[in-house]
Amino acid sequence: MSSPTEMLEAEHRVIALIVGAAPVLISKIDEGGPVDNSLLTGIVEFMRLYADKCHHGKEEELLFPLLAEKGVPMHGCPIGGLINEHARGRVLVKGLDEAASALSINEADDVARGRLITNLRGIADLYPGHIWREDYMLFPMTDKILGKEEQDTLYAAFQKVDEGIGSQVIERLVRFAKSI
Ligand SMILES: [Fe+2]
Ligand SMILES: [Fe+2]
Repeated sequence: MSSPTEMLEAEHRVIALIVGAAPVLISKIDEGGPVDNSLLTGIVEFMRLYADKCHHGKEEELLFPLLAEKGVPMHGCPIGGLINEHARGRVLVKGLDEAASALSINEADDVARGRLITNLRGIADLYPGHIWREDYMLFPMTDKILGKEEQDTLYAAFQKVDEGIGSQVIERLVRFAKSI
């Protein structure tokens, strides 16, 4: 069995596929190219369900509270900053969703095109640093703080989150990330 931080790291690699695709999408839209609405809808769904509900959910509802019990401060570096970044990610995805919806009604809406680019760029700027801070600061710290038994219990709780979302849904979202 792998560890809970290994599970989160593996999810980061999937999220990074979507985040890595954002700059390509930005340049296409910036050049005035057509807006692929089903792709944008897919990205919004992925960010809400996989990145936020499944992944941030494990971090915010299970990992961070457990670290708090162990005496890690919830404010400041690193956890307070990471929680703020999750909140910022939600705002960006909401903005992306709204801009995509406006463009699905009128593809020539330049204001919506600008908002789409701003929010995609925000996502592309936010996540690499966020993932780095977790992979290289939070997770090594977690591995040091939690004993083997606590890690196994946390891993089982993470699996329950996946079960709650459904393995078929998760597999579909992972396939989507790998497809773009
Ligand atoms: Fe996170
Ligand atoms: Fe994460």
